[in-house]
Amino acid sequence: MSGKRIVFTGGTGKAGRHAVPHLIAHGYSVLNVDLKPLDLPGVPTLIADLTDNGQAFNALTTHPTFAGFNDGRPPSPPDAVVHFAAESHVDRSIYEPAAAIQTNVTGTFVLLQIAKKLVLSKFVHVSTDEVYGDMAPGAFSNEETPIHPSSPYSASKASSDLLVHSYVRTYNFPAVITRASNNYGPYQFPEKFLPLLISNLLEDKPLPIYGDGKQVRDWLHVEDHCRGIMAVLERGRIGEVYNIGGADIVENIAMAKALLNAMGKPETLLTYVKDRPGHDRRYALNCKKITAELGWQPQITLADGLRQTIDWYKTNTAWVAAVRGGEYLSYYDKYYKNRDASLHAIAPKSPSSV
Ligand code: DAU
Repeated sequence: MSGKRIVFTGGTGKAGRHAVPHLIAHGYSVLNVDLKPLDLPGVPTLIADLTDNGQAFNALTTHPTFAGFNDGRPPSPPDAVVHFAAESHVDRSIYEPAAAIQTNVTGTFVLLQIAKKLVLSKFVHVSTDEVYGDMAPGAFSNEETPIHPSSPYSASKASSDLLVHSYVRTYNFPAVITRASNNYGPYQFPEKFLPLLISNLLEDKPLPIYGDGKQVRDWLHVEDHCRGIMAVLERGRIGEVYNIGGADIVENIAMAKALLNAMGKPETLLTYVKDRPGHDRRYALNCKKITAELGWQPQITLADGLRQTIDWYKTNTAWVAAVRGGEYLSYYDKYYKNRDASLHAIAPKSPSSV
Protein backbone atom coordinates (compact mmCIF):
# COMPACT_ATOMS: atom_id res chain seq x y z
CA MET A 1 0.00 0.00 0.00
CA SER A 2 3.11 2.20 0.08
CA GLY A 3 2.76 5.60 -1.68
CA LYS A 4 -0.90 5.82 -0.80
CA ARG A 5 -2.81 8.31 1.26
CA ILE A 6 -3.77 7.64 4.86
CA VAL A 7 -6.20 9.53 7.02
CA PHE A 8 -4.96 9.18 10.59
CA THR A 9 -7.27 10.26 13.43
CA GLY A 10 -5.92 11.41 16.79
CA GLY A 11 -2.40 12.01 15.50
CA THR A 12 -1.70 15.09 17.58
CA GLY A 13 -1.00 13.10 20.76
CA LYS A 14 1.59 10.43 21.51
CA ALA A 15 0.17 8.15 18.82
CA GLY A 16 0.92 10.62 16.09
CA ARG A 17 4.42 11.36 17.34
CA HIS A 18 5.27 7.71 16.80
CA ALA A 19 2.90 6.26 14.22
CA VAL A 20 2.84 9.13 11.73
CA PRO A 21 6.65 9.14 11.21
CA HIS A 22 6.42 5.35 10.76
CA LEU A 23 3.85 5.77 8.01
CA ILE A 24 5.86 8.51 6.31
CA ALA A 25 9.08 6.47 6.51
CA HIS A 26 7.20 3.69 4.71
CA GLY A 27 6.22 6.03 1.88
CA TYR A 28 2.69 6.95 2.92
CA SER A 29 1.32 10.46 2.81
CA VAL A 30 -0.67 11.33 5.92
CA LEU A 31 -3.54 13.64 6.72
CA ASN A 32 -3.96 13.98 10.49
CA VAL A 33 -7.50 14.55 11.76
CA ASP A 34 -7.57 16.00 15.25
CA LEU A 35 -8.72 18.92 17.37
CA LYS A 36 -5.27 20.57 17.31
CA PRO A 37 -2.45 20.56 14.75
CA LEU A 38 0.44 18.11 14.88
CA ASP A 39 3.78 19.93 14.69
CA LEU A 40 5.50 17.54 12.30
CA PRO A 41 6.78 19.10 9.05
CA GLY A 42 4.86 18.00 5.99
CA VAL A 43 1.94 16.52 7.91
CA PRO A 44 -1.24 18.58 7.51
CA THR A 45 -3.91 18.45 10.18
CA LEU A 46 -7.56 18.73 9.36
CA ILE A 47 -9.23 20.21 12.44
CA ALA A 48 -12.40 18.21 12.97
CA ASP A 49 -14.41 17.24 16.03
CA LEU A 50 -15.56 13.69 15.39
CA THR A 51 -18.06 13.91 18.22
CA ASP A 52 -19.87 16.67 16.35
CA ASN A 53 -21.51 14.97 13.40
CA GLY A 54 -22.30 18.10 11.38
CA GLN A 55 -18.95 19.82 11.96
CA ALA A 56 -16.94 16.67 11.25
CA PHE A 57 -18.96 15.85 8.17
CA ASN A 58 -18.52 19.36 6.75
CA ALA A 59 -14.80 19.51 7.59
CA LEU A 60 -14.01 16.11 6.15
CA THR A 61 -16.23 16.16 3.09
CA THR A 62 -14.97 19.55 1.90
CA HIS A 63 -11.28 18.64 2.33
CA PRO A 64 -9.62 17.79 -1.02
CA THR A 65 -8.40 14.46 0.28
CA PHE A 66 -11.97 13.47 0.89
CA ALA A 67 -13.27 14.75 -2.45
CA GLY A 68 -13.67 11.28 -3.83
CA PHE A 69 -16.90 10.26 -2.19
CA ASN A 70 -19.20 8.15 -4.32
CA ASP A 71 -21.13 11.26 -5.24
CA GLY A 72 -19.84 12.19 -8.65
CA ARG A 73 -17.00 14.46 -7.44
CA PRO A 74 -13.45 13.89 -8.74
CA PRO A 75 -11.99 10.69 -7.33
CA SER A 76 -9.19 11.49 -4.89
CA PRO A 77 -10.18 9.79 -1.67
CA PRO A 78 -7.80 8.50 0.95
CA ASP A 79 -6.79 4.88 0.42
CA ALA A 80 -7.07 3.92 4.07
CA VAL A 81 -7.99 5.22 7.50
CA VAL A 82 -6.20 4.52 10.77
CA HIS A 83 -8.58 5.43 13.60
CA PHE A 84 -6.47 6.14 16.66
CA ALA A 85 -8.44 9.02 18.21
CA ALA A 86 -9.75 8.09 21.65
CA GLU A 87 -10.18 9.23 25.22
CA SER A 88 -7.82 6.64 26.64
CA HIS A 89 -7.42 7.26 30.36
CA VAL A 90 -9.25 4.78 32.59
CA ASP A 91 -9.26 6.92 35.76
CA ARG A 92 -10.70 9.94 34.00
CA SER A 93 -13.40 7.74 32.48
CA ILE A 94 -14.35 6.48 35.94
CA TYR A 95 -14.87 9.92 37.40
CA GLU A 96 -16.11 11.69 34.25
CA PRO A 97 -17.34 9.04 31.80
CA ALA A 98 -19.10 11.33 29.31
CA ALA A 99 -15.96 12.22 27.33
CA ALA A 100 -15.03 8.56 26.81
CA ILE A 101 -18.50 7.72 25.57
CA GLN A 102 -18.65 10.77 23.31
CA THR A 103 -15.21 10.39 21.75
CA ASN A 104 -14.92 6.63 21.63
CA VAL A 105 -18.47 5.64 20.73
CA THR A 106 -20.00 8.67 19.01
CA GLY A 107 -16.67 9.68 17.43
CA THR A 108 -16.20 6.21 15.96
CA PHE A 109 -19.79 6.14 14.72
CA VAL A 110 -19.44 9.54 12.98
CA LEU A 111 -16.18 8.47 11.35
CA LEU A 112 -17.66 5.16 10.22
CA GLN A 113 -20.61 6.96 8.65
CA ILE A 114 -18.24 9.22 6.69
CA ALA A 115 -15.74 6.49 5.84
CA LYS A 116 -18.38 4.10 4.56
CA LYS A 117 -19.03 6.52 1.68
CA LEU A 118 -15.40 6.22 0.57
CA VAL A 119 -13.76 3.51 -1.46
CA LEU A 120 -11.19 2.42 1.11
CA SER A 121 -8.84 -0.51 0.95
CA LYS A 122 -8.61 -0.68 4.75
CA PHE A 123 -9.97 0.96 7.93
CA VAL A 124 -7.80 0.08 10.93
CA HIS A 125 -9.64 0.56 14.21
CA VAL A 126 -7.12 0.84 17.06
CA SER A 127 -8.54 -0.72 20.21
CA THR A 128 -7.31 -2.19 23.48
CA ASP A 129 -6.81 -5.41 25.43
CA GLU A 130 -8.98 -3.86 28.17
CA VAL A 131 -12.08 -4.94 26.27
CA TYR A 132 -11.39 -8.53 27.39
CA GLY A 133 -11.50 -7.47 31.07
CA ASP A 134 -9.72 -9.30 33.87
CA MET A 135 -7.82 -12.45 32.96
CA ALA A 136 -7.44 -15.18 35.60
CA PRO A 137 -3.88 -15.96 36.76
CA GLY A 138 -2.12 -17.92 34.02
CA ALA A 139 -4.81 -17.17 31.38
CA PHE A 140 -4.19 -15.19 28.18
CA SER A 141 -6.83 -13.53 25.98
CA ASN A 142 -6.77 -14.39 22.31
CA GLU A 143 -8.96 -12.79 19.67
CA GLU A 144 -11.82 -15.25 20.35
CA THR A 145 -11.98 -14.42 24.08
CA PRO A 146 -15.38 -12.85 24.83
CA ILE A 147 -15.28 -9.15 25.57
CA HIS A 148 -16.03 -8.30 29.18
CA PRO A 149 -15.12 -4.65 29.84
CA SER A 150 -14.94 -3.27 33.39
CA SER A 151 -14.61 0.53 33.20
CA PRO A 152 -16.54 3.17 31.25
CA TYR A 153 -13.38 3.53 29.13
CA SER A 154 -13.11 -0.15 28.24
CA ALA A 155 -16.89 -0.38 27.76
CA SER A 156 -16.70 2.55 25.32
CA LYS A 157 -13.86 0.86 23.39
CA ALA A 158 -15.73 -2.45 23.36
CA SER A 159 -18.80 -0.61 22.04
CA SER A 160 -16.76 0.95 19.27
CA ASP A 161 -15.30 -2.47 18.37
CA LEU A 162 -18.84 -3.85 18.09
CA LEU A 163 -19.89 -0.95 15.89
CA VAL A 164 -16.91 -1.49 13.60
CA HIS A 165 -17.68 -5.19 13.41
CA SER A 166 -21.31 -4.45 12.52
CA TYR A 167 -20.17 -2.25 9.61
CA VAL A 168 -18.01 -5.07 8.27
CA ARG A 169 -20.91 -7.49 8.43
CA THR A 170 -23.71 -5.18 7.31
CA TYR A 171 -22.03 -2.86 4.81
CA ASN A 172 -19.10 -4.99 3.70
CA PHE A 173 -16.91 -2.25 5.17
CA PRO A 174 -13.16 -3.07 4.96
CA ALA A 175 -12.28 -2.74 8.66
CA VAL A 176 -9.76 -4.54 10.82
CA ILE A 177 -9.50 -4.17 14.62
CA THR A 178 -6.26 -4.12 16.61
CA ARG A 179 -6.21 -4.66 20.39
CA ALA A 180 -3.02 -3.54 22.06
CA SER A 181 -1.72 -3.88 25.59
CA ASN A 182 -0.27 -1.13 27.81
CA ASN A 183 1.87 1.17 25.67
CA TYR A 184 4.85 3.05 27.03
CA GLY A 185 7.56 5.25 25.56
CA PRO A 186 8.40 8.90 24.84
CA TYR A 187 5.70 11.61 24.68
CA GLN A 188 3.24 9.70 26.87
CA PHE A 189 1.15 12.02 29.00
CA PRO A 190 2.12 11.64 32.69
CA GLU A 191 -1.35 10.63 33.84
CA LYS A 192 -0.55 7.05 32.78
CA PHE A 193 1.35 4.82 35.21
CA LEU A 194 4.87 4.75 33.72
CA PRO A 195 5.28 8.40 32.73
CA LEU A 196 3.61 9.48 35.97
CA LEU A 197 6.09 7.45 38.00
CA ILE A 198 9.10 8.57 35.98
CA SER A 199 8.15 12.23 36.14
CA ASN A 200 7.40 12.02 39.87
CA LEU A 201 10.79 10.38 40.44
CA LEU A 202 12.51 13.17 38.52
CA GLU A 203 11.17 15.50 41.25
CA ASP A 204 11.65 13.02 44.14
CA LYS A 205 7.89 12.87 44.63
CA PRO A 206 6.05 9.79 46.03
CA LEU A 207 4.87 7.06 43.66
CA PRO A 208 1.12 6.40 44.06
CA ILE A 209 0.51 2.63 43.92
CA TYR A 210 -3.16 1.66 43.72
CA GLY A 211 -4.34 -1.00 46.19
CA ASP A 212 -1.76 -3.72 46.83
CA GLY A 213 0.18 -3.05 43.62
CA LYS A 214 -0.18 -6.67 42.54
CA GLN A 215 -2.16 -5.86 39.40
CA VAL A 216 -0.54 -7.20 36.28
CA ARG A 217 -0.09 -5.40 32.97
CA ASP A 218 1.35 -6.47 29.62
CA TRP A 219 3.88 -3.81 28.54
CA LEU A 220 4.36 -2.90 24.88
CA HIS A 221 6.76 -0.27 23.58
CA VAL A 222 4.90 2.28 21.46
CA GLU A 223 7.28 1.68 18.52
CA ASP A 224 6.41 -2.03 18.57
CA HIS A 225 2.74 -1.06 18.66
CA CYS A 226 3.27 1.14 15.57
CA ARG A 227 5.00 -1.72 13.74
CA GLY A 228 2.01 -3.92 14.61
CA ILE A 229 -0.47 -1.38 13.26
CA MET A 230 1.60 -1.08 10.08
CA ALA A 231 1.56 -4.86 9.61
CA VAL A 232 -2.22 -4.92 10.05
CA LEU A 233 -2.69 -1.96 7.70
CA GLU A 234 -0.64 -3.65 5.00
CA ARG A 235 -1.47 -7.32 5.43
CA GLY A 236 -4.30 -7.73 7.98
CA ARG A 237 -7.38 -9.59 6.82
CA ILE A 238 -10.64 -7.62 6.61
CA GLY A 239 -13.06 -8.36 9.43
CA GLU A 240 -10.37 -9.80 11.69
CA VAL A 241 -9.13 -8.77 15.14
CA TYR A 242 -5.39 -8.81 15.89
CA ASN A 243 -3.95 -8.66 19.40
CA ILE A 244 -0.72 -6.68 19.75
CA GLY A 245 1.03 -7.24 23.06
CA GLY A 246 4.45 -7.06 24.61
CA ALA A 247 6.48 -10.00 25.80
CA ASP A 248 6.69 -8.63 29.36
CA ILE A 249 3.85 -9.17 31.83
CA VAL A 250 4.69 -7.47 35.10
CA GLU A 251 3.09 -6.56 38.44
CA ASN A 252 2.74 -2.81 39.00
CA ILE A 253 4.80 -2.96 42.16
CA ALA A 254 7.62 -4.76 40.36
CA MET A 255 7.52 -2.11 37.64
CA ALA A 256 7.66 0.68 40.25
CA LYS A 257 10.65 -0.99 41.94
CA ALA A 258 12.40 -1.42 38.58
CA LEU A 259 12.02 2.33 37.98
CA LEU A 260 13.29 3.20 41.47
CA ASN A 261 16.28 0.99 40.86
CA ALA A 262 16.99 2.36 37.38
CA MET A 263 16.74 5.95 38.60
CA GLY A 264 18.67 5.37 41.84
CA LYS A 265 15.78 6.42 44.13
CA PRO A 266 14.77 4.94 47.53
CA GLU A 267 11.84 2.56 48.08
CA THR A 268 10.50 4.96 50.73
CA LEU A 269 8.94 6.85 47.80
CA LEU A 270 6.46 3.98 47.25
CA THR A 271 3.06 5.10 48.56
CA TYR A 272 0.10 2.76 48.57
CA VAL A 273 -3.11 4.65 47.89
CA LYS A 274 -6.78 3.82 47.56
CA ASP A 275 -7.45 1.40 44.72
CA ARG A 276 -9.13 2.26 41.42
CA PRO A 277 -12.83 1.27 41.58
CA GLY A 278 -13.47 -1.87 39.51
CA HIS A 279 -9.72 -2.24 38.94
CA ASP A 280 -8.89 -5.07 36.53
CA ARG A 281 -6.40 -7.35 38.21
CA ARG A 282 -4.61 -8.83 35.25
CA TYR A 283 -4.25 -8.32 31.51
CA ALA A 284 -2.25 -10.73 29.38
CA LEU A 285 -2.48 -11.09 25.61
CA ASN A 286 -1.95 -14.10 23.41
CA CYS A 287 -0.45 -12.65 20.20
CA LYS A 288 0.14 -15.84 18.23
CA LYS A 289 -2.25 -14.77 15.47
CA ILE A 290 -0.42 -11.61 14.42
CA THR A 291 2.92 -13.41 14.66
CA ALA A 292 1.77 -16.39 12.58
CA GLU A 293 -0.21 -14.44 9.98
CA LEU A 294 1.66 -11.18 9.66
CA GLY A 295 5.12 -12.00 11.00
CA TRP A 296 4.94 -9.33 13.71
CA GLN A 297 6.53 -9.69 17.12
CA PRO A 298 7.81 -7.16 19.64
CA GLN A 299 11.42 -6.12 19.07
CA ILE A 300 12.09 -3.94 22.11
CA THR A 301 12.69 -5.68 25.43
CA LEU A 302 11.21 -4.09 28.52
CA ALA A 303 14.69 -3.50 29.96
CA ASP A 304 15.84 -1.59 26.85
CA GLY A 305 12.52 0.20 26.46
CA LEU A 306 12.51 1.40 30.06
CA ARG A 307 16.08 2.66 29.80
CA GLN A 308 15.26 4.57 26.62
CA THR A 309 12.00 5.95 28.09
CA ILE A 310 13.64 7.12 31.33
CA ASP A 311 16.40 8.81 29.31
CA TRP A 312 13.82 10.53 27.15
CA TYR A 313 11.95 11.95 30.16
CA LYS A 314 15.26 13.00 31.74
CA THR A 315 16.32 14.93 28.66
CA ASN A 316 12.90 16.37 27.81
CA THR A 317 12.21 18.12 31.08
CA ALA A 318 10.79 21.17 29.29
CA TRP A 319 8.13 18.98 27.63
CA VAL A 320 7.35 17.34 30.97
CA ALA A 321 7.12 20.70 32.75
CA ALA A 322 4.83 22.09 30.06
CA VAL A 323 2.37 19.19 30.18
CA ARG A 324 2.46 19.04 33.99
CA GLY A 325 1.14 22.58 34.37
CA GLY A 326 -2.40 23.97 34.27
CA GLU A 327 -5.11 21.37 33.74
CA TYR A 328 -2.76 18.56 34.78
CA LEU A 329 -2.22 20.06 38.25
CA SER A 330 -5.93 20.30 38.93
CA TYR A 331 -6.35 16.74 37.62
CA TYR A 332 -3.59 15.48 39.92
CA ASP A 333 -5.03 17.27 42.96
CA LYS A 334 -8.52 16.03 42.23
CA TYR A 335 -7.66 12.35 41.78
CA TYR A 336 -4.73 11.89 44.12
CA LYS A 337 -5.36 14.17 47.12
CA ASN A 338 -8.43 12.23 48.23
CA ARG A 339 -6.97 8.77 47.84
CA ASP A 340 -6.26 8.78 51.59
CA ALA A 341 -2.76 7.37 51.57
CA SER A 342 -2.76 6.97 55.37
CA LEU A 343 -5.33 4.13 55.18
CA HIS A 344 -3.08 2.25 52.81
CA ALA A 345 0.35 3.09 54.15
CA ILE A 346 1.11 -0.60 54.47
CA ALA A 347 0.38 -2.72 51.42
CA PRO A 348 -1.92 -5.67 52.06
CA LYS A 349 -0.16 -8.96 51.43
CA SER A 350 -1.39 -11.09 48.54
CA PRO A 351 0.26 -13.76 46.43
CA SER A 352 1.74 -12.82 43.09
CA SER A 353 -0.76 -13.40 40.32
CA VAL A 354 1.54 -13.31 37.31
O1 DAU B 1 -4.19 -2.18 28.43
C1 DAU B 1 -4.24 -1.15 27.47
C2 DAU B 1 -4.67 0.09 28.18
O2 DAU B 1 -3.60 0.47 29.02
C3 DAU B 1 -5.07 1.22 27.25
O3 DAU B 1 -6.20 0.85 26.54
C4 DAU B 1 -5.39 2.45 28.07
O4 DAU B 1 -5.68 3.52 27.22
C5 DAU B 1 -4.21 2.79 28.94
O5 DAU B 1 -4.51 3.90 29.75
C6 DAU B 1 -3.80 1.61 29.80
O6 DAU B 1 -4.79 1.34 30.83
P1 DAU B 1 -4.36 1.02 32.33
O7 DAU B 1 -5.45 1.36 33.24
O8 DAU B 1 -3.77 -0.33 32.44
O9 DAU B 1 -3.13 2.09 32.42
P2 DAU B 1 -2.69 3.09 33.57
O10 DAU B 1 -1.38 3.64 33.11
O11 DAU B 1 -3.74 4.05 33.95
O12 DAU B 1 -2.44 2.12 34.78
C7 DAU B 1 -1.57 1.00 34.71
C8 DAU B 1 -1.65 0.24 36.01
O13 DAU B 1 -1.07 1.04 37.03
C9 DAU B 1 -3.08 -0.04 36.46
O14 DAU B 1 -3.11 -1.29 37.12
C10 DAU B 1 -3.37 1.07 37.45
C11 DAU B 1 -2.01 1.32 38.09
N1 DAU B 1 -1.76 2.70 38.54
C12 DAU B 1 -1.99 3.71 37.66
C13 DAU B 1 -1.77 5.01 38.03
C14 DAU B 1 -2.04 6.13 37.07
C15 DAU B 1 -1.28 2.93 39.81
O15 DAU B 1 -1.05 2.00 40.61
N2 DAU B 1 -1.04 4.23 40.18
C16 DAU B 1 -1.28 5.28 39.34
O16 DAU B 1 -1.08 6.46 39.77
